Amino acid sequence: MDFFATSATAARQRTDCAIVGLYQTKRLTEDATTLDKASDKQISAAIAKGDIDGKLGSTLLIGHTHHVACKRILVVGLGSKKEFNERAYRTATAAALAKISGTGAASAVSYLSRETLKERDAYGVARLAAAEAALSVYRFDELKSEKAKKPKLKRFGVAAANRNDQTAMQSGLKDAAAIIDGVKLARDLGNRPANVCTPGHLADQARDLAKRFKSIKTKVVNRAEIERLGMGAFLSVTAGAAEPPHLIVMEYSGGATDESPIALVGKGITFDTGGISIKSASAMDEMKFDMCGAASVLGTMLSLARLRLPLNVVGIVPTCENMPSGTATRPGDIVTTMSGKTVEILNTDAEGRLILCDALTYSRKYDPETVIDIATLTGACVIALGHFHSGLMTRDNDLAEELLTAGRTAADLAWQLPLTEDYAKTLKSNFADFANVGSKSGSAISAGCFLGKFTEGLSWAHLDIAGSAWKSGKAKGATGRPVGLLTQFLIDRARL
Ligand code: BES
Ligand code: MN
Ligand code: ZN
Repeated sequence: MDFFATSATAARQRTDCAIVGLYQTKRLTEDATTLDKASDKQISAAIAKGDIDGKLGSTLLIGHTHHVACKRILVVGLGSKKEFNERAYRTATAAALAKISGTGAASAVSYLSRETLKERDAYGVARLAAAEAALSVYRFDELKSEKAKKPKLKRFGVAAANRNDQTAMQSGLKDAAAIIDGVKLARDLGNRPANVCTPGHLADQARDLAKRFKSIKTKVVNRAEIERLGMGAFLSVTAGAAEPPHLIVMEYSGGATDESPIALVGKGITFDTGGISIKSASAMDEMKFDMCGAASVLGTMLSLARLRLPLNVVGIVPTCENMPSGTATRPGDIVTTMSGKTVEILNTDAEGRLILCDALTYSRKYDPETVIDIATLTGACVIALGHFHSGLMTRDNDLAEELLTAGRTAADLAWQLPLTEDYAKTLKSNFADFANVGSKSGSAISAGCFLGKFTEGLSWAHLDIAGSAWKSGKAKGATGRPVGLLTQFLIDRARL
C-alpha cells in the first residue's frame, strides 16, 4: 500500500472514499461539516434518518456523492469529544477501514487525523493511521487453494491541518511504511506452519534479506560449526530432531566500521513439542509460533535496512525444532554451554533459554553496545501480563526506559517485571552449576534470571513475547510484534 499526506480540503480532495468523523450526540467534525455543506447536506440527511449517531466505531457509507471530489463518504462515529483519545482514534480508524475493505474503493483519505489528540503529534497520528491501514489489508492465504478476495485499497492518505503537519506526517508515513514491511515479514514467518517454516526456511529468508539489501550480510552457521563453537545447550535442544539446526547471523552496517553494534537475539524454535517433557495436546499447534522472536529479528532487520539507519546492528537467531525421539535429551542430562557453565536440564520444555544462552554468549564476539533478546519464553508471562504488553526484564534501568518509551511511540507496548537475584535462587542444581528451571512461581522472571547468568557485564534486556506475538481463537495468527518496538528503539538510538 502507498501512503501520502494531503492538506487539500475535504470537498476538493479526489479520492475513492473520504473518511470523516461524527462525535456522539450527532456533532459533526469540521471536515464532516465541510463535506456536508458541499454535498447537499448528504450527511445531515443520513443523521436525521437515524442511520448514524456518533457511537465510537459505528460507520455509515454514503455510496453516491454530489458536488464533491470524493466518490464515497464514510462517516465514522468517534464517541465522546471530551474523551477522544489515542485508543478511540485507532478504534474509529480501524472501523472505517474494515468498512471500506468491503467496497471497491482503491484509495481513501482519512480526515480523522485532523482531530486533536493530546497524546500524539502529527507524526504520530500519521504513523497510527498507516499501521491500522496495513492491518486491515493483511491476509495470510498462501496455503489456501482458494484465495480470499484481495482487498482493493492501494492508496491511503492522511489529512494534515497545515503544511508543517503535512511534512511531519510524511516523515511518519515513511517510518510507518518501513515498519509495516518488517511486521508483515514477521507475521508471514510466524503464520507459516512448522513443516514449511523450518530452520532451513528461516536461514533462506535471512539470505534473501542479504540479497535484497547491500547493507545486510548473512552468515548461516551449520551443525558442525555449532559443535566446534561448543554450544552444548543449543545442541541439546536439537538432539531429538531430524531437521538440521542453524545459527543465523545477519550483520547490518549503517554506522562507522569501528562502532560497536546493537545485538538482537531471537528465539527460533520452529516447533516446540516440549521434547521428552512433552506438552499436552491441546493447542499444541500454536507452538509453531515459537519462532516469533526470530521472526521479529528478521522483520526488524528489514525495516532497519529500508530506513537506512546510521547504526550497526547484528541479528542472531539460533533456530531448531524441539522434538522427542530416541536421540532426544533426557530430563536430568547435564550439558556444557558455550560459556563453560554447566546446566542440568530438569525440563526439556524449558528449551528457549537453552538455545538463547549460547546465542547470547556468541554475541560477545561483537563486543556489543547493547544486547536485546526476544523470545516466546514462558507461559507464565502470559499469565502475568496477558496479551497487551510484552514482558521486559533487565538490570539496566536506562535501557528499560528506552525500550518502554519506544514501545509507547510505536503503540507496541511492553511492561517491566523485576529481575532481582532473589528469583535466581530457585535455579539451584545438586549436580551442575545450575538447573534450567526454577520453582513454578515467578517463572517468567526465573527464566530471565537464567539468561542473566550469561549476560554478566553486558547492557542487556530480555523481552518475553509469549503473550504478544500471536493471537489465539478466531483471530489466530501472528501479530508481528515487537518489530514496531524494536525498530522504534533503533530509530531513537540513531537520532541520539
Ligand atoms: N514456548 C514455550 C512458552 C509458551 C508456552 C509460550 C505457551 C506461549 C504459550 C516455552 O518453551 C515453554 O515451554 N516454557 C515452559 C517453561 C517451564 C517448563 C519452566 C512454560 O512456560 O511452561
Ligand atoms: Mn518449551
Ligand atoms: Zn518454547
